[in-house]
Amino acid sequence: MQENNDYININKQTWNNKVDVHIASDFYDMDGFLKGKSTLNAIELELLGDVKEKKILHLQCHFGQDTMTFSRMGAKATGVDLSDKAIDRAKEINKKLNLDATFVCCDIYDAPNHLNEKFDIVFTSYGTIGWFPNLDKWAKVVSHFLKPGGKFVMADFHPVVWMFDNDFKEIFYNYFNTEEIIEDESGTYADRYAEISAKTITWNHPTSELLNALITNNLELDSFNEFDYSPYNCFNQTEEFEPNKFRVKHLKNKIPMVYSLLATKK
Ligand SMILES: C[S@@+](CC[C@H](N)C(=O)[O-])C[C@H]1O[C@@H](n2cnc3c(N)ncnc32)[C@H](O)[C@@H]1O
Repeated sequence: MQENNDYININKQTWNNKVDVHIASDFYDMDGFLKGKSTLNAIELELLGDVKEKKILHLQCHFGQDTMTFSRMGAKATGVDLSDKAIDRAKEINKKLNLDATFVCCDIYDAPNHLNEKFDIVFTSYGTIGWFPNLDKWAKVVSHFLKPGGKFVMADFHPVVWMFDNDFKEIFYNYFNTEEIIEDESGTYADRYAEISAKTITWNHPTSELLNALITNNLELDSFNEFDYSPYNCFNQTEEFEPNKFRVKHLKNKIPMVYSLLATKK
């Protein structure tokens, strides 16, 4: 498998371009967040348990809403993201809200060179591993930051979703990690009509690749769950069949849309 060394700079630019649009979007409901709304979903909350007093590392925190939600829940939270613009905004919002989250800007692969701490929980969610070519390298970082007995909690879109074209009409991409996927998208999932266009370089990862990467890096799997809906309305052709549960109208409950997993560091 070829690794394009430019992917970090290309993806970083794209994520930097999205930040202000996302902060202004209904999708991220900044007003609700500033007033105290939690941004975590039942899917991950069920696995996280009580986070009070826990040290949490949030990987790929974007502009930090979930990280700061952890702070509001009484955790000592640290967010990491590649986008310097997202991290700058996260720091501003954290200050405005008088919260004590900390934020670090770096590539996840490189995070052990930027952060010298161990955590009770490592968390990552919704739009994560597709940005990495090599999951063994990613899982090494997850494992590195966990104390023995620490928990890894993850919730993300199911690899089956990434096989389809944007309208879920045909199988367009490979389920397996065969090559980098280079795309020029316009708009963004949080605002389809936003006037931004950007190049992305991503990878599809089958479930076996994810689970084996964790297992071979000292993480013991406690649970793996699949859901026939997304808690976010970020795809085309969807219906909200129950409050805050979205699925593809013509596929109904036939495909998994999200998975969650809990693993413990040995
Ligand atoms: C879809 S967002 C994360 C979703 C998060 N749940 C949210 O909606 O706020 C993906 C994030 O991954 C970050 N990212 C992409 N590649 C990365 C990398 N190599 N290292 C660290 N962060 C990366 C992006 O900057 C972006 O903020």
